Amino acid sequence: MTIRIGVLASGRGSDLQSIIDGIESGKVDARLVVVGSNNPDAMALERARRGGIPCFCVDNRYYSTRREHDLAMMEELESYNLDLLVLAGYMRIIDSQEFIERYHGRMINIHPSLLPAFPGPQAQYDAFEYGVRWSGCTIHFVTDTVDEGPIIAQRPVYIGDCRSAEEAAERILAEEHCLLPEVVDSFARGRYVIEGRQVKYVPNE
Ligand code: GRF
Repeated sequence: MTIRIGVLASGRGSDLQSIIDGIESGKVDARLVVVGSNNPDAMALERARRGGIPCFCVDNRYYSTRREHDLAMMEELESYNLDLLVLAGYMRIIDSQEFIERYHGRMINIHPSLLPAFPGPQAQYDAFEYGVRWSGCTIHFVTDTVDEGPIIAQRPVYIGDCRSAEEAAERILAEEHCLLPEVVDSFARGRYVIEGRQVKYVPNE
């Protein structure tokens, strides 16, 4: 079943691009119906425009509280009837309960480490500085605790021979671009059941 998805992104948008490419090549059974950002200069918005995908920006600088901004974002998304909302480099913490509950079980985030190791916005750099040989990426459901929602999928990436944090980040990003389209497609082919911290996949009949 082709699902309706939306993506929120704040910057470069290469993860978004991996979904766009996956859809175009027929590997991802989804319709990307909207891309949203908090940053008017996000390259992600440009990628959406180029792909003919409706997009919007709710600039966080015009909102005095996180909650007001969250609610404005939510309102923009409302009419799109999304089966899945993907946070792909969305650099805002969503902490309004309304938003989180509205998308319970259908909002996912991609994070550039093997959670629970190295949460936070500089995960690849933290992993490199720590000296771990392996890091990777994680896709998890979004809950009210940042980078802590139940885990859907993870991929390890060897960074033990990387000479810089940038090199490690690049290697991890390449893996994100494989994993994210796969996981989005899996939502079209089945459903995820969340039982506490465990996530079980039930394929469609
Ligand atoms: C990715 O590393 C993702 O894991 C993290 O933000 C980065 C987004 O990159 N959440 P891009 O903007 O999609 O290129």
